[in-house]
Amino acid sequence: MSEYILGIETSCDETAAAIVKDGRDIVANVVASQIDSHRRFGGVVPEIASRHHVEQITVVLEETFQQAGITIEDIDAIAVTEGPGLVGALLVGVNAAKGLAFAHHKPLIGVHHIAGHIYANRLEKEFRFPLLALVVSGGHTELILMREHGDFDIIGETRDDAAGEAYDKVARTLSLPYPGGPQIDQLATEGEANIDFPRAWLEEDSFDFSFSGLKSAVINTLHNAKQKGQTLESKDVAASFQASVVEVLTEKTFKAATQYQVKQVIVAGGVAANKGLRQSMIAKFKQAPAIDLLFPPLSLCTDNAAMIAAAGSIAYQQGHRAGLDLNANPSFSLERYAKRP
Ligand code: KG4
Ligand code: ZN
Repeated sequence: MSEYILGIETSCDETAAAIVKDGRDIVANVVASQIDSHRRFGGVVPEIASRHHVEQITVVLEETFQQAGITIEDIDAIAVTEGPGLVGALLVGVNAAKGLAFAHHKPLIGVHHIAGHIYANRLEKEFRFPLLALVVSGGHTELILMREHGDFDIIGETRDDAAGEAYDKVARTLSLPYPGGPQIDQLATEGEANIDFPRAWLEEDSFDFSFSGLKSAVINTLHNAKQKGQTLESKDVAASFQASVVEVLTEKTFKAATQYQVKQVIVAGGVAANKGLRQSMIAKFKQAPAIDLLFPPLSLCTDNAAMIAAAGSIAYQQGHRAGLDLNANPSFSLERYAKRP
């Protein structure tokens, strides 16, 4: 018999629900984005996010079941993003999931948001272990080694800004609208990487990242040019900034993948949509043809609930269950999630 997992995601600015069959097939996937409401503030406003989630969650859930053509009674378990994220936003999803689980006597599963981003890739292709995940989103930049399902070992992480955060901040400096990542990605294809921005390689054996120096270098370069009465082309700044981010991400991921002798490398999170990153990774991994390189489809790179249901399916099979005392966990660590009872 097939297994149906309902996923719910409200950690930031998308209200999302989805139903995934047998951990890998999307039956329904609904995302209500709030980007338009936050754009005029140049970023996500937590209070506004929570309010939108409250308004949207029931509508999104109804639409999900309509799309799937099944009812809540056909669902085996309800998986919800427990954290990390904005507490007021997370609470809306957690409470909706708890309400449904209680009313319909369904098992409840708390899912880590980053585990979700990683498992978005399993909706494309089956995992092969050991695998290395490069997670690059608005809040995270991590290299995660997985030896089996549900096992997450962080071997490198950012020491300051996340990759997506750097994109968004540089975009704001260039007066581009929020979220800046896709805007810079597009501009970068039109410009030339002719400004030599720094690459933070850090210590020889470190798989950590740092993007705040690069961000400052971009801001300083723009500022100095302005003071000298020069104008820099935004498209060249975008291309040069992106070249720096992409080179560091690609080189560190490749080095870790060969050092840990992984079978698969998967890229996850909003920045996984980046065209420059995709091209650079594909080109680099031609040097290691035995390693299977995977990107999620564009629609599953940014926040969605299909990824939460996919990660929830594994947690369900591994016997993880949350009680009705499940709470939002805004600073939930992936390692704690992996070690939960
Ligand atoms: O994974 P996500 O939806 O949310 C978090 O969990 O953080 O990622 C959003 C981030 C934003 O910083 C956005 O600017 C970035 O992903 N992003 C991109 C692209 N598309 C989204 N960054 C670079 N290039 C893109 N094409
Ligand atoms: Zn995310």
